[in-house]
Amino acid sequence: MTIRTIPTQPFTDQKPGTSGLRKRVPVFQQAHYLENFVQSIFDSISAPANATLVLGGDGRYYNREAIQVILKMAAANGFGRVLVGKGGILSTPAASCVIRKHKTYGGIILSASHNPGGPEGDFGIKYNVTNGGPAPEKVTEAIFARSKQISEYRILEAADISLDSLGVSDLGGMQVEVIDPVTDYADLMASLFDFAAIRDLLAGGFRIKFDAMHAVTGPYAREILERQLNAPAGSVMNAEPLPDFGNGHPDPNLTYAHELVDIVYGENAPDFGAASDGDGDRNMILGKGFFVTPSDSLAILAANATLVPGYKNGLAGIARSMPTSAAADRVAQALGIPCYETPTGWKFFGNLMDAGKVTLCGEESFGTGSDHVREKDGLWAVLFWLNILAARKQSVEAIVYEHWAKYGRNVYSRHDYEGLPTDAANGVMKHLHGSFANLQGQTLGNYKVLFCDDFSYIDPVDGSISTGQGVRIGFTDGSRIVFRLSGTGTEGATLRIYLEAFEPDVAKHPLDAQAALSELIGIALQISELRTRTGREQPTVIT
Ligand code: G1P
Ligand code: ZN
Repeated sequence: MTIRTIPTQPFTDQKPGTSGLRKRVPVFQQAHYLENFVQSIFDSISAPANATLVLGGDGRYYNREAIQVILKMAAANGFGRVLVGKGGILSTPAASCVIRKHKTYGGIILSASHNPGGPEGDFGIKYNVTNGGPAPEKVTEAIFARSKQISEYRILEAADISLDSLGVSDLGGMQVEVIDPVTDYADLMASLFDFAAIRDLLAGGFRIKFDAMHAVTGPYAREILERQLNAPAGSVMNAEPLPDFGNGHPDPNLTYAHELVDIVYGENAPDFGAASDGDGDRNMILGKGFFVTPSDSLAILAANATLVPGYKNGLAGIARSMPTSAAADRVAQALGIPCYETPTGWKFFGNLMDAGKVTLCGEESFGTGSDHVREKDGLWAVLFWLNILAARKQSVEAIVYEHWAKYGRNVYSRHDYEGLPTDAANGVMKHLHGSFANLQGQTLGNYKVLFCDDFSYIDPVDGSISTGQGVRIGFTDGSRIVFRLSGTGTEGATLRIYLEAFEPDVAKHPLDAQAALSELIGIALQISELRTRTGREQPTVIT
């Protein structure tokens, strides 16, 4: 087997976004495109000779081909061993778990998360560092800088390796170990949660439905929910991972997980519903005909954490991304622990967890997790909820209502305008930046502007600074509007508007979030000039 050095030209568009490099499959299929990025990773991370790497993806279209390329490049770049998920598949939290458990020199995860897959769908790749978490900005910036300079890459000339059975094989002197993706992860879950109590809950007739959306969590959910916790067969739906997610959009929200939503809001509904996304790091939590917003979910997990064995000693602190509602802040305050506000994207939580400053983290975008790994974790959130439900013996809805009664309710919604022309979306953001001076102190209907700024963050652990993280308009009563451009899309621009109003009055709690936020929605549209600048009347997705 020979190592070949292949001359190449840089691509100019390999800048990682909120979570790695995401592009359409045909972009990745261009000659040298994937190879250039992988070599840029290897050139930037200074792995010692014979290091071990973890490798796996969410199983979407092009996963298998990409895994073979990366294995051959790893062999040519001096890695000694690669742990690969069976079939080339690993959920993102499982990859994080394996990196940590086996102390590897990080890992490469192939995923475009919740974006649709298939030959015309999306593909993605990211490097996770040795703590199991997404590479911080200084690493992704180094990879991008390298991708603009690259002139050659190294690859082993060899036949493809079979990834469908467990075991070790040799690839040009490098060991390729195909591992069972589920075992390590299921063991970790069993160490955190009271499986016996959850088993009792389910044996007592509490019915659950988990939608794996034909994405990566199917095998994990079947093993844990159906085999280890004895949920009846069929409790996990769409359990078979498919390269195109059964033509679906594997994003667990009220719009894209409509099959589950119809069941949970229908007749004879189960007591609990949940879904996870393409790569298994997101979660949606539902009660019988009841939706738990991700921001509330984080707050409720925090408030009830001591009911769960893995968190029985309490939390060091909580972190939430800036656009996430302040519901968790109220719990942190009541518990007397710190709450950190970080930019969007899981990579900002890693330092806080490594330094022992926080235990739970969350984002409004259906992401919740803890320091058990360094990624958000969909099934973990589901098990956390089931453990709380088993301990409290109340319905999901009752738990949420009690929470609101105690802490007040941060009424919350996010409006996404997807697929906008990039110029128009940038124009909206530029216009908002230009309006800060004028908006300051202004009264808009019932709301008075307290501050407006562009969010920036100084990492309290390493002092690194991240600027331009989204426009915030805060009002004197604690309400807030945030505008941000997505960093995960592959087509045009997506503009997100995050709306939040605080309602302490329990009597008003069965209120409809959209109705309660209607005045703020009107203000957001007015001050951003979104409709005239983009020609869009309505958001594409409301969560
Ligand atoms: C989105 C979410 C963000 C999440 C990321 C990866 O990023 O908003 O919270 O971390 O996906 O799952 P965005 O498209 O907004 O940049
Ligand atoms: Zn994801």
